[in-house]
Amino acid sequence: MIACVGGGSNAIGIFSGFADLPVRLVGVEPAGGAAVGRGVPGVVHGMRSYLMQDEYGQVQEAHSISAGLDYPGVGPEHSMLAETGRATYVSVTDNEAVEAFRRTCRLEGIIPALESSHALAHVYRTASALPKDGIVLVNLSGRGDKDMATVAERDARPT
Ligand SMILES: Cc1ncc(COP(=O)(O)O)c(C=O)c1O
Repeated sequence: MIACVGGGSNAIGIFSGFADLPVRLVGVEPAGGAAVGRGVPGVVHGMRSYLMQDEYGQVQEAHSISAGLDYPGVGPEHSMLAETGRATYVSVTDNEAVEAFRRTCRLEGIIPALESSHALAHVYRTASALPKDGIVLVNLSGRGDKDMATVAERDARPT
């Protein structure tokens, strides 16, 4: 079960139905906002969880091409799932997410949100190593119509 993780709501919603089953749970964070992957315990919005903060406890800015993942904290359930090892958390760069967005448009004829494209990017980079009869469920948290201009603008930029 793979889902993108910003604040963590779509991922925890889908993980909760599978937590008691023998299913691997994978959360995919943006490389520039990996609160679980790069954060440390801290308090924000009244909750103690993993948080991107500096040595003085000041919250650091997150950076992601997807506005919905541009958040320096994460819901505390994810911190618990990470600490107990029940779920694993990986990160995906903006470029990988955009590539997964394009690839899914081409292959499936659907436009995934750039947020969801982070989860898809992790599938694309790991699928070949999975057992052939394995089943991967990806939570498509939203549509990417809203992201077309962002991707088109990025395509137009000289490399
Ligand atoms: C389409 C979509 N997916 C995912 C997210 C990330 O949020 P969360 O991790 O809380 O599900 C957002 C946030 O705005 C979003 O718009």
